[in-house]
Amino acid sequence: MIRAVLRGCGHYLPQRVVENAEFAATLDTSDEWIRTRTGIERRHFAAEGEKTSDLAIAASRAALANAGLTGAELDAIVLATATPDQTFPSTATRVQAALGMHGGFAFDVQAVCAGFVFALAQADALIRVGLARRVLVIGAEVFSRILDFSDRGTCVLFGDGAGAVVLEAAEGIGDATDRGLLATDLRSDGRYNEILYVDGGPSTTGQAGVVRMAGQDVFKHAVVKLAETGAAALARAGLGPADVDWLVPHQANLRIMTMTAQKLGVARERVVVTVQEHGNTSAASIPLALSTAAGEGRFSPGDLVLMEAIGGGLAWGAAVLRW
Ligand code: ACO
Repeated sequence: MIRAVLRGCGHYLPQRVVENAEFAATLDTSDEWIRTRTGIERRHFAAEGEKTSDLAIAASRAALANAGLTGAELDAIVLATATPDQTFPSTATRVQAALGMHGGFAFDVQAVCAGFVFALAQADALIRVGLARRVLVIGAEVFSRILDFSDRGTCVLFGDGAGAVVLEAAEGIGDATDRGLLATDLRSDGRYNEILYVDGGPSTTGQAGVVRMAGQDVFKHAVVKLAETGAAALARAGLGPADVDWLVPHQANLRIMTMTAQKLGVARERVVVTVQEHGNTSAASIPLALSTAAGEGRFSPGDLVLMEAIGGGLAWGAAVLRW
């Protein structure tokens, strides 16, 4: 059977680093509060005029270089973002043009923090049905543009960045020893729209709006739902938590990651954690963590990597990848 195998990955972070202490200058907060409640120490913010597509293009170039490919050799681009450059066209088509990819197709996926897992599942399906052989999957966000910097409960949590992977069709035998994406699990429940949302949009206020969140409610859903979707994706691949070499979770909050790993039964030292450096970069967080860990040489061929994420919608899901 056809499998979508990971051929390369890369990432990009804006130059400006914002330490927790910077927020204490304007808000009733502290480095200590942010660190102990979230694990976040610093995050990157895009420069004025730096757009989501700029971050996505830089991450894509790094992923293509890592894969030894050019943009012209891609068949499709699937870009996950909740902070597109414009309402339309898709940010993916901006990346397509910049990479010199004049054929194929490109589109955006919107599932907020779960966006990268949703995009991976779309790319996997495109490859497996034969609509594309090489797909660039990107998670890119400039979340700093949709934050209310007077709300200490949200603005300290998020950061900007982009990560990308190149998936390529390869022949597999159809069991869990294959390389590539072995299974995905996608879920959403719109009854929870109101616990995490942006208070604007083209058809409501005509303005982009800012993030609003009931943090404790999201926290409770996150731990339960992430463990469920992770276990479901593993089961779909005929595997279990004991088979996981690396858990690469959405980097929202260190406590959520630790509790989810515990619930799943994955040892703490097998969890890739970058939230201290990046904050929550929404759709970019998993590919950023994946590319950072890959750059450190943490993955060996054959390693089983479980990715999982949850965000606004609520939307959540998981993907099982053999490196
Ligand atoms: N600095 C200081 N105090 C703060 C801050 C801050 N930055 N933010 C909130 N507080 C205060 C609150 O106002 C509250 O004060 P009060 O008791 O006087 O009312 C107190 O801290 C406790 O607030 P809680 O919301 O109960 O704090 P909690 O321990 O739940 O931590 C947090 C808040 C970090 C937001 C947590 O709920 C969380 O991480 N939730 C998950 C949300 C998340 O990660 N969302 C991202 C998108 S979805 C996803 O990616 C999973």
